[in-house]
Amino acid sequence: MPTDDQQVHRGLEGIAVAETRLSSIDGEAGELVIGGFPLDELAANATYEESVFLLWNDRLPTADELADFRTDLAARRAIDDEVREVLRRAAAEGKPAMDALRMGAAAANLGSDDGDPETDARRVVAAFPTIVATYWRYRQGEEPVAPREDLGHAANYLYMLTGEEPTDAAVRGLETYLNTVVDHGLNASTFTARVVVSTESDVVSAATAAVGTLKGPLHGGAPGPVLDMLTEVHERGDPEAYVRETLDAGERLMGFGHRVYRVRDPRASVLSSAAERFYEASGDDDFFETVQSFEDVAVDVLAEHKPDRSLETNVEFYTAALLHGVGVPRDLFTATFGVSRVGGWTAHCLEQLEDNRLVRPRARYVGDAGRTWTPAKER
Ligand code: ACO
Repeated sequence: MPTDDQQVHRGLEGIAVAETRLSSIDGEAGELVIGGFPLDELAANATYEESVFLLWNDRLPTADELADFRTDLAARRAIDDEVREVLRRAAAEGKPAMDALRMGAAAANLGSDDGDPETDARRVVAAFPTIVATYWRYRQGEEPVAPREDLGHAANYLYMLTGEEPTDAAVRGLETYLNTVVDHGLNASTFTARVVVSTESDVVSAATAAVGTLKGPLHGGAPGPVLDMLTEVHERGDPEAYVRETLDAGERLMGFGHRVYRVRDPRASVLSSAAERFYEASGDDDFFETVQSFEDVAVDVLAEHKPDRSLETNVEFYTAALLHGVGVPRDLFTATFGVSRVGGWTAHCLEQLEDNRLVRPRARYVGDAGRTWTPAKER
């Protein structure tokens, strides 16, 4: 029987390893607070630049500060020719977008002196959309579209994907998404970023490592499959049959259930309203009707299927609906999550550095001891 100090906390579940003022999650009540604001208050009103400023500075910017911050970030968007070449190659080899983002992130400090943590943070936040959009243009067999400094962060991302100026409704939809997922407690990628800077490594390395963590299907990979499911149901109809077939086959229904939330994920509520506004404004609410009726049916059938476990809609369900609506391609959903979450990763890096302590847990050894060496030719 392990003693208390030998107790293993697999996956660090339930263990608090840092104090943070960045976001707070109440899984029972379904509440998320970001930078002191209830999620719905922040997500629907802020620009992404305001959310990032808030996380980095623990207050909203004044109008002048916001203008300066936007200008400064916009000036840091361009990427080097050599990085473009790597992204072209990644696209030509059919590497996933998250691999391309990892490669581009790793090279984000090429051509600049080693920056202080905040300069590095500004650089990665500014460059992430350019990296993803450049990769995507190559994947489409098109030339990249250079960033435009006169557009805000969200508008410029959509512009670089298509070469066309996005509608206000699409920009507001994407902006709401970026604000909604910018930070969420000590999730795996955020923890990764904090571990990296805790060694007094740098913010570019932390963001690169965090991209690698976000890539895994247990973290950022669900919205693509959610869109596939919604598209299939939209085409063939009968959501109830789809849900029952999926559950009868012993599969999980993507976009439902959460480790922390026992009620509807508050991010799903915010994204659902944003998606509804977007689809109404664009006059294409047919698809969104399918999404809503699918959710109603799925929640009822899941309750019947697992009466002892609350399985409610999670963030990924409406992420798929909203990102698809505003024109982000399915294959970029996880990378677009990274485009937002890099704001949270960098904020956590800066917070970690305010009062740093090397993150160094330990493992309980369960291997053999006292083996004796045998030379290779005698084994
Ligand atoms: N559909 C059907 N059954 C489910 C679902 C689901 N979406 N989610 C959980 N269950 C069932 C499990 O099969 C399990 O049943 P069992 O006790 O008979 O084995 C029970 O509910 C408990 O499931 P756990 O795996 O213990 O729940 P956990 O908290 O570990 O899982 C998770 C959370 C991974 C999100 C899970 O609900 C899931 O796989 N959902 C589908 C994938 C998805 O939407 N992922 C995105 C999550 S949001 C985010 O991470 C940003």
